Amino acid sequence: MDILRAKITAAGHYLPERRVTNLELQKTVDTSDDWIVERTGIRERRVAAKGQATSDLAVEAAKSLLKKRGIDASEIDLIIVGTVTPDMFFPSTACLVQHKIGAKKAWGFDLSGACSGFLYALQTGAQFIAAGAHKKVLVIGADVMTSIIDFEDRATCVLFGDGAGAVLLEPAEAGEVGIMDCLLRSDGSGGEHLYMPAGGSLNPPSVETVQRKMHYVHQDGKNVFRYAVRGMADISAEILEKNSIPSSDIKLYIPHQANLRIIKAAVDRMKLDESRVVVNIDRFANTTAGTIPICLSEAVEGGRIQKGDKILMASFGAGWTWGSVLMQWEA
Ligand code: ACO
Repeated sequence: MDILRAKITAAGHYLPERRVTNLELQKTVDTSDDWIVERTGIRERRVAAKGQATSDLAVEAAKSLLKKRGIDASEIDLIIVGTVTPDMFFPSTACLVQHKIGAKKAWGFDLSGACSGFLYALQTGAQFIAAGAHKKVLVIGADVMTSIIDFEDRATCVLFGDGAGAVLLEPAEAGEVGIMDCLLRSDGSGGEHLYMPAGGSLNPPSVETVQRKMHYVHQDGKNVFRYAVRGMADISAEILEKNSIPSSDIKLYIPHQANLRIIKAAVDRMKLDESRVVVNIDRFANTTAGTIPICLSEAVEGGRIQKGDKILMASFGAGWTWGSVLMQWEA
């Protein structure tokens, strides 16, 4: 039996309206625009409005995708949402999205892969296409990181923003390539370097956990940086070597947007021309599961991707989780 391949047929994204610049943050924490730009490449980020949850961002990204593809939500079979900031523990954000967009026949679930959440979700969705089980899978990466950030902690509050991106997976036609290969990894020994200590079954919410700020992102930035530089560069190079594809064949490299210096390390390692790298960290900061699909959607809208182009995506994040996906654009 032939193995079906999945292809991405449309992409959409959504960013909340409110912009928060480094200069604005400089007024409330001991930091500076110069420090943030030099160490991270971030100039501003978007922040969700009060009451605007992850599902709201995801719904807007999904609606924009459906419009571009010209299909109704009732055609979707499955919805997978990569997120670490679900609206609530349950119901899943995927169920909320399913209801809000009117995807009447779809089932769905959330997937927790932190900054690799989108690539994990993409590969999961692609398996349902490959198995012949589904024909239209909506894969979303969405996070409202500002809901779990301590805005008094300068080491973390400057790094993140809110946003959502979405893609539609469908079976590739005869002769089309679509998603070519995927490498996904995890290493739980990295958990202690980047985590949210409270709110789960280990440290259920209490007055004490709130007073001790345990519902916020805690990280050892230096260690995260060290592992991310190596992890993302290695997994990007590895998938090219495995498929015998020279980096000069890659039309666009879409890396997770955590820090411009992490991106540059991976780009240097592959000897890629900077014009082939998608970067929007300056405008949106790190939107966790949102970064890669937002970059992809912006690149398609901007005419940077044409049918037949080879695209490489790569991520590294909490867990540790990391991965790379190689595909040929067929839309
Ligand atoms: N403004 C000004 N000074 C700051 C700030 C800030 N916002 N944050 C930290 N500093 C200070 C530190 O306190 C330290 O001061 P000290 O020397 O007096 O102790 C000094 O700046 C240098 O701090 P470092 O941690 O050594 O700075 P570094 O160059 O490592 O950059 C950063 C810090 C930007 C956090 C970097 O380590 C990083 O990007 N790490 C990756 C973190 C990340 O991206 N996490 C997101 C999720 S994981 C992922 O997406 C891959």
